[in-house]
Amino acid sequence: MERYRTIIPEWEDFLAALVRPLPTVIRTNTLRIEPATLKRRLEAKGFRLRPLSWDETCFLVEGEAPIGNTLEHWLGYYYVQEATQLLPAKALGPRPGERVLDLCAAPGGKTTQIAQYMEDQGLLVANDSSAKRIQALLANVYRLGIKCVVVTECPGEEFPKVVEFDRVLVDAPCSGEGVARRFPHLRKGASLLTIQRLSALQKRLLVRALELVKPGGIVVYSTCTIAPEENEGVVRHVLELGLAELVPWEPPVPHARGLVRFEKAEYGQEMQGAVRIYPHHFDSEGGFIAVLRRIF
Ligand SMILES: C[S@@+](CC[C@H](N)C(=O)[O-])C[C@H]1O[C@@H](n2cnc3c(N)ncnc32)[C@H](O)[C@@H]1O
Repeated sequence: MERYRTIIPEWEDFLAALVRPLPTVIRTNTLRIEPATLKRRLEAKGFRLRPLSWDETCFLVEGEAPIGNTLEHWLGYYYVQEATQLLPAKALGPRPGERVLDLCAAPGGKTTQIAQYMEDQGLLVANDSSAKRIQALLANVYRLGIKCVVVTECPGEEFPKVVEFDRVLVDAPCSGEGVARRFPHLRKGASLLTIQRLSALQKRLLVRALELVKPGGIVVYSTCTIAPEENEGVVRHVLELGLAELVPWEPPVPHARGLVRFEKAEYGQEMQGAVRIYPHHFDSEGGFIAVLRRIF
């Protein structure tokens, strides 16, 4: 992680956050239950729930028992979803009746959240290239009782251009440096080779997403890594190709803005419209979010 010292001013806070346990957050499945009812039911079982200040359908949870092992979980009343992971679907802003594509969807945290925002009306295509991870995606879609989702298995960069979507989410496969709190082996940072390999794939995925969304439509690009080559570098690529413009986005949480430059790379002033989340900002995982509008 040492290479990021120059871009993270609160370096000691960042390092300290990496070794702290991650808070548990759940998102109410509002298609099935009211947040207040869910809170009452889980508190009756000994859990302590505190709503997030910026989303009252989500709760910080404390308790002795595993939160994934309750009747309410099996009934699909909630989804265990890390706080930073709640942000890309908010940035996407899906509405009921729209056509939405989640290009890298498994295991379905953001798919099920998008379906909630769509009030289960319209068409939500949840795609992933991994048959194994699609099992978990299907299980989550069924468990939460969502009906507007169609699941497909396809390399996202080859997703067929037969339907024009209103919005596309690219929650890209990445080197995962932002989830180092959960996976200690990631705390040393990813190798440059891994970063470069992923960056090439991410560029192909984002280009395809922009070809799949309608002209003027919205594509959100998100990762859970810190590496600029997988974040600003990928967004820069589609801006340079003239495929999209960056739409500045203000998340409801403390954050840093996208980088204008890193090492020898120049990303441009407009990259400040993108959002970086570091684990110390609000005691969460790290991530990157950029909102793009198709301009061709
Ligand atoms: C960050 S995870 C997605 C997490 C998911 N959006 C969620 O919120 O639960 C990235 C996903 O991309 C998938 N993936 C990897 N390469 C892909 C490709 N070429 N096309 C589509 N999906 C791919 C992986 O199988 C993985 O499930």
